[in-house]
Amino acid sequence: MQDDSPLKVRVSRRQVLIAGTVSAAVTALPTASAVTDAATAPSKVAAAVTTEVAFEVNGERRSLELDTRTTLLDALREHLRLTGTKKGCDHGQCGACTVLLDGRRINSCLTLAVMHQGARITTIEGLGTPKRLHRMQAAFVKHDGYQCGYCTPGQICSAVGMLDEVKAGVPSHVTEDLTARPRLSVTEVRERMSGNLCRCGAYSNIVDAIGDAAGGLS
Ligand code: FES
Ligand code: FES
Repeated sequence: MQDDSPLKVRVSRRQVLIAGTVSAAVTALPTASAVTDAATAPSKVAAAVTTEVAFEVNGERRSLELDTRTTLLDALREHLRLTGTKKGCDHGQCGACTVLLDGRRINSCLTLAVMHQGARITTIEGLGTPKRLHRMQAAFVKHDGYQCGYCTPGQICSAVGMLDEVKAGVPSHVTEDLTARPRLSVTEVRERMSGNLCRCGAYSNIVDAIGDAAGGLS
């Protein structure tokens, strides 16, 4: 007797999955002509634009031929081999890359080197030497203002710049009387140094060190 019922195909779930995967892979493969086109098409990646930039770093005139996209941090670390300045976040959030630019503190990861033609830059290497430490460096050593030390160059450069800001009468977010000269209190130091993170949590010793270098906190 002839069987007129529709053809029954038994397909397991596993076979469906395998078939689906193969079909997706085949669809994703470029065709032969697409591969040939990609190989012969002119490259769309623009060549780097370079320019010469010259500045004074730690008292020495330095001149570099740089890709215009080079940050000041990379110019210092990768081109001048001044690796004391650290790269933490590379996004302006940790302060590890702080240097002094014409006497003012700056996150060197957030600025391009070519923007600072002729500037005077001081890194941790230029603040003092192992034999003749800057008073802020000596205070950090005395008060154990670090553990791993990764944030320390940025903390020290930032602290030096911060004391100059206080001396110049620049108020902070927590300064109560904006018409008077700011007093250097623990609260002021904490606020003004809040852009410098320390993952080891050496904050209380850092504040002590800064207070010592400043001649005491009020
Ligand atoms: Fe520049 Fe973190 S590396 S702020
Ligand atoms: Fe380790 Fe500050 S001493 S991050």
